[in-house]
Amino acid sequence: MSDLDLPIRPRRNRRSEAIRGLVRETRLSPQQLIYPLFLHEDKGDTPLESLPGQTRWGLDGLVREVERAHKLGINAVVLFPKVPETKKNPSGDESWNDKGLIPRAIRAIKESVPGVAVITDVALDPYNSDGHDGIVRGGVIVNDETVDVLCKQALCQARAGADIVAPSDMMDGRVGAIRAALDAEGFSDVAILAYTAKYASAYYGPFRGALDSAPKAGDKKTYQMDPANAREALREAALDEDEGADMLMVKPAGPYLDVIAALRDFSPLPIAAYQVSGEYLMIKAAAQSGWLNERAVVLESLTGIARAGADMILTYFAAQAAEWL
Ligand code: PBG
Repeated sequence: MSDLDLPIRPRRNRRSEAIRGLVRETRLSPQQLIYPLFLHEDKGDTPLESLPGQTRWGLDGLVREVERAHKLGINAVVLFPKVPETKKNPSGDESWNDKGLIPRAIRAIKESVPGVAVITDVALDPYNSDGHDGIVRGGVIVNDETVDVLCKQALCQARAGADIVAPSDMMDGRVGAIRAALDAEGFSDVAILAYTAKYASAYYGPFRGALDSAPKAGDKKTYQMDPANAREALREAALDEDEGADMLMVKPAGPYLDVIAALRDFSPLPIAAYQVSGEYLMIKAAAQSGWLNERAVVLESLTGIARAGADMILTYFAAQAAEWL
């Protein structure tokens, strides 16, 4: 009765789903989701206890899962191998074995589902007996020597047919070195998705469990970024741009929305964000206890990441979210 006579009523734009749909600023689509997949050398598929709902796939299962996801609208996957201890050594040589697990997986996916872009992780941690992303010498992660091996790894992935290589190791200068190595071998069409602002995060715990890739000694703080720093992310972004990165990434995603927004403002390059294993697990655990509505929270978390400025989102919810969308 006594409503104030307000001239401006923002609620008019929220009156119905039809109107909300017209004014919506952020739209999620399966096309922008990237599905991370774990694989191992075994034939069978093993459900991952540390990541409920995710599986460590054998090659056949992997291809079937990529086919399934593709039918739901997912057009990009990223692959993470679990390498047996016997194939690990201090220089991570298995990372550039042309007959290794990742090259075989790339070929199998490209053959069966050519419409899916295959993204590969460039870093030594699954292959390195020290569990670090780079070569360890006297407790130090040596930069330039590691970069030489990363170039071999990226080339091996490109030869197998990778569309995009994604260095997640945080060594200095690796984007430029990998770009030069790819171009020199005729792989100028292979893109680089740089993990530009990858933080030394406790949210990676479940992932390291899934791959058995936790560092044997020390932590990753001398190469991954301090969670307290945002300006430093711009410095990394400037370098990655200069060195020829095609896309930049922020990781983790949810706790670093300010960094996503800052990179979005700073760079014209596409921005990716990685909703990591710990972020996935927190939602999963709460949903399994009946404390949260999984579907609503997943879509809201992804919308928040996109709204902050991410063009692409790597998420273990990719296939599920695509189904919901
Ligand atoms: C390692 C790598 C990590 C993740 C992706 N690539 C772990 C780490 O840096 O220790 C984490 C992904 C996740 O937690 O989902 N190069």
